Amino acid sequence: MYKIELGVALKKVIGQVRELHNENELKAIISLLNKMTKEPEAIIEAMPNFDCEEVLLYADNDLTVYYIATPPGILYPPHEHGMVAISALYRGTETHVFYDRVGENIKERTRVTATAPAVVDMEIDAVHAICTSDAVPNEGLHFYLGGLETQTRTMWNISGDSPRQYVHDDYLKSARPL
Ligand SMILES: [Fe+2]
Repeated sequence: MYKIELGVALKKVIGQVRELHNENELKAIISLLNKMTKEPEAIIEAMPNFDCEEVLLYADNDLTVYYIATPPGILYPPHEHGMVAISALYRGTETHVFYDRVGENIKERTRVTATAPAVVDMEIDAVHAICTSDAVPNEGLHFYLGGLETQTRTMWNISGDSPRQYVHDDYLKSARPL
């Protein structure tokens, strides 16, 4: 269900992603979101004005959608999602730090910077951290193909240790300057 009043264009995209996910059409979801990030005007217009960086737009057991504007100069702690996650970036750049699992801990593998328009899709077991080196917050929609709010999933310290259940307050407190 929708967590906030949204314009028609945004509801349409979320509805389409829901339908495609029900049909198990991941490729079609990615292609739809690629199109959306290339022509984001209608989505931007359909978005309420937010004062915050992260807003839950939609959540049910099969799909969770966040608006995310990552502020510059902050590295957020690494985490898993426990489901497929897709970042659809329509403004700025977003750097993903990807990690390998080493026992219970994790080790940085690579950094990939996406520049809008861009779609980054992550497999169920992916572990990443996000940041941006832009001068202003980036902007995008993050789609999670499941119920993210109730998912059992792990976050780590930026050093890659102290695995523990993801809790959003802990996530924000564990962020560090980039
Ligand atoms: Fe994430």
